[in-house]
Amino acid sequence: MKFPKGFIWGSATSAYQVEGGIENSDWSVDFPAGKACDHYNRYEKDFNLLQELNQNAYRFSLEWSRIEPQKSCFNETEIEHYRKVLQSLKSRNIKTMVTLHHFTTPYWLSWSDPSSVFYFSRFAREVFKEYHNLVDYWIVINEPLVYASQSYYQGAWPPKRKSLFSFLKVVNNQIAASKKVYQEFHQLKKDAQVGIAKNNVFFEPDKSSFDKFSASLARYFWNDYFLNKIKNHLDFIGLNYYFHSRIKFPCSLRNENKIISDLGWEIYPQGIYHVLQELKKYNLPLFVTENGLADEEDRQREEFIREHLYWVGRAIEEGVDIRGYFHWSLMDNFEWAEGFKPRFGLIEVDYRTLERRIRPSAYYYAKICRTNQL
Ligand code: FCB
Repeated sequence: MKFPKGFIWGSATSAYQVEGGIENSDWSVDFPAGKACDHYNRYEKDFNLLQELNQNAYRFSLEWSRIEPQKSCFNETEIEHYRKVLQSLKSRNIKTMVTLHHFTTPYWLSWSDPSSVFYFSRFAREVFKEYHNLVDYWIVINEPLVYASQSYYQGAWPPKRKSLFSFLKVVNNQIAASKKVYQEFHQLKKDAQVGIAKNNVFFEPDKSSFDKFSASLARYFWNDYFLNKIKNHLDFIGLNYYFHSRIKFPCSLRNENKIISDLGWEIYPQGIYHVLQELKKYNLPLFVTENGLADEEDRQREEFIREHLYWVGRAIEEGVDIRGYFHWSLMDNFEWAEGFKPRFGLIEVDYRTLERRIRPSAYYYAKICRTNQL
């Protein structure tokens, strides 16, 4: 199976999960990541590995709490740091996809407050002015609904709120912020490429018409609501695909076929095809901005990649405009409330010595990246 010419092959990380040494974010006190992978200091070496694995793109995030540790105080040293990171990628001819908000915020910001729209868009504008020549694709917000629900409705992540009302305010503020950032980036540069990374689920109804109805409701709220609000403010859509939910009225069953990752998440490759097909209606270029699994022993990763890419390829053959694929993740990292236990990396990290070891499945993926085919 051949992929289109110029297809983008990469992997993804986010700042808090890999960099280490982040002290001013809302996660830093209750969920400290310590040194994490020390990617902040070892990025050159990590990019050597990325190149060795034939990847031509890298998705990562800027840590806002480094750049603006106190409200309105921008840190020049950190701005220079990310410039060097971006320059290093560019000098290797690697395409850059930069996320502005990947779950963490400076400790002083609250997304349930309307002022968040102002502060976030100001931060976005600052970094855009600094890096616009070095960034190929901007992701304004990573998984807004996952963030809003974990942090403001379920209370699992900072700031640990459990309020439907706050959840709705966060969603609204993130919609407003997404539109504002899109408009401002395009005012500054006509051909800026601005998108989102959206976690969409394949909701599959069981049998009855009740099941079908519930699945379409779930699809409407989880997959489409946010996109519908910002669809005129997007140059592309990024899909983060992890989940399949079989909907049996009124609740869902996830793990019927019992093929699961180390985190107990069901592996259902065909689902990526369905969610990509669903996204076709937006008439925008698509990227798979995340897809991967926790698999410490690397027993399932090769097949996982093969199967998911097969279904991505099928969608492309059937006319879905998919431009690239980013595996989650380049290396093992800090999996939020789950800590360091889940191992999502193409590259294994020894957290004691911080040594990297390329997993066998990464070489399998590297061959696909090199040959542009499955
Ligand atoms: C996604 C997140 C990413 C990572 C993967 C496993 O929801 O965007 O940071 O944690 O899940």
